[in-house]
This record gives sequence, C-alpha cells and structure tokens, in this order.
Amino acid sequence: MKKYTTINDIENLSDTIQKAIQLKKNPYQFSDLGQHKTLVMLFFNASLRTRLSTEKAAKNLGMQVSVLNVTNAWNMEFEDGAVMNLNTSEHIKEAAKVISQYADIIAVRAFPTLEDKEKDRAETVLNSFVKYATVPIVNMESATDHPLQALADAITITETKKVDKPKVVLSWAPHPKALPHSVANAFVHLMHNMEVDFVITHPKGYELDPEITQQFPIEYDQQKAFENADFIYAKNWSSFNEYGKILNEDPNWMITQEKIGTAKFMHCLPIRRNVIAEDAVLDADNSLVIEQANNRTFAAQIVLQQILGEL
Ligand code: CP
Repeated sequence: MKKYTTINDIENLSDTIQKAIQLKKNPYQFSDLGQHKTLVMLFFNASLRTRLSTEKAAKNLGMQVSVLNVTNAWNMEFEDGAVMNLNTSEHIKEAAKVISQYADIIAVRAFPTLEDKEKDRAETVLNSFVKYATVPIVNMESATDHPLQALADAITITETKKVDKPKVVLSWAPHPKALPHSVANAFVHLMHNMEVDFVITHPKGYELDPEITQQFPIEYDQQKAFENADFIYAKNWSSFNEYGKILNEDPNWMITQEKIGTAKFMHCLPIRRNVIAEDAVLDADNSLVIEQANNRTFAAQIVLQQILGEL
C-alpha cells in the first residue's frame, strides 16, 4: 500500500480484515518489520484513541514514533503563492519535505473547518501532505474521512456478526456541538465494501454528501430503521446541506435500550452519555464500543504493516 487516506486504498478488504484478526492473536509476529523506521504522527486536533492505538500499532511493528501536536509548531500555510506576511510562518511545501527527512511514514489528523465546504471537501491539509511529502501518508481523521476508524469497525462487525449478511443501521443522534461528517462518511464508504443490508436514519436536513451515500436507503423514521437490525452505529454529524449547522437537537433521537432491543451497539467514541445513547445501552453486553477501540490498534497495525511491506 502506498498510502492510506481512504478505505479504498485497501486492495482486498476481507483479506486485510482476516489478517488484522490474526494479528490480535500475536501482535508481535512482525516486530522486526519496522526496525529503524519512524512513524511521525501530526495532530492538528485532539485525540485519545487514534493517538494511543496508532502509536501502539507502530511499536508492535518495532517502529520508533514521534508525535507532534501541530499547535506547538509554526503556524502552517497551505495556500500556493501566499504572501506570508500575516500569521503563518512555515509553508507546507517546506514543512512536509522537512518532516519527510525524519519519517518513513507520516500520519496526519486534521479536522474540517465546518465553515468552508469546498475547502473541507478539497481535503487541503491531508492532500497537501500527500502532494509535498516524500513518504507515505496515513489519514488519522481528515476533513471528510476517518478510514482507520472504518477499518476497526469492519474488524468488529466481522468478528461479532451472527449472519453472513447482517442488517446495519447508521443512526444520527443528538449532540450539543456541530460535529464533522468524517466518521459517518467513513462508515458509509465501508458499507459500500461489505456484504450488509445497510440503512441510514436521521432527521430531515441531515442528509450526508449524496456522492458518498449514493444508492443507500434513507429512512427518516428511526424506529422503523431499527427493525430487525443486527448492528446500530450511532453518530452525530452537523448538516451537510446547511454546511456545519445544527438543525435539530431532538432528544427523541437518543439511542435507548428499548429502541435497539437485541441489536449490537456501535460508536467510535468519545460519546456523550445520555445525549447520544443512554447509560443502559453503553453498559449492556451488546455494546461493542470498547472492542471497536481495541480494534483501532489492529486496524492501524495492518495498515502500517502493508505500507512498510512496500517501502
Ligand atoms: N474515535 C476516535 O478517533 O477517537 P479519538 O478522537 O480519541 O482519536
């Protein structure tokens, strides 16, 4: 693999999922592969799971890891031809090439503005690193995608499904802050690549980018969408059409135990308890959220392994 910016960079998803599941049994079986190689992780935004699981994955492969919170570095300029006489001190053209001197792989987290739709859809930060770095780039959540989360979710569904073609529902849930579309988009990308019966449910106005959801059905009645579901994946996102806006905080969309019945519950975390989902859902045996977080390590490890294999 030359880079990992979207789940579609994986050539054979089912084979990759099986390899990740095997890695869980012996995480150190390829601990020589990353000897004398360095992963540099750049965080433009906060993280708990991505930071710790990706670092653990790299170390399981014998890599060294450097982490830079970009807010502690020079303000970066991304515009080509910019006259840098304001607040930016370092252009991505130098920064990406310089970081490439210290890294064999660069991983980047850079959230959207949620103000400038076209800029966010252009993935300016991530794609600038892809363009100017001289080493492979891994997406640790970008303006529109979160493929490491999606791969962990794929592993989790594969490990726990009871039928060959489970019914999977992606449900919008309320949240007091305007959140990105990245996790929801990544999950929809994943659903295009898995053998599932997939439904999206959300209040009117919360339609995701139609280029991503394409032919998948949208059911505006959450309870109807949940009928016979095997997996319910909850996530909040802000409006895509009225870009970045909160249109509705209706608490009736919170996931409750009564609503989900015997379905397994998924969420990428962090989650606001009793806003997105009630305690009873998160504390039940059918909650997969901790296993999803655990699988983040093996998702990152199989991705790094496939990239290291081609260096
Ligand atoms: N799910 C996820 O990416 O978690 P963090 O934001 O804590 O990394």
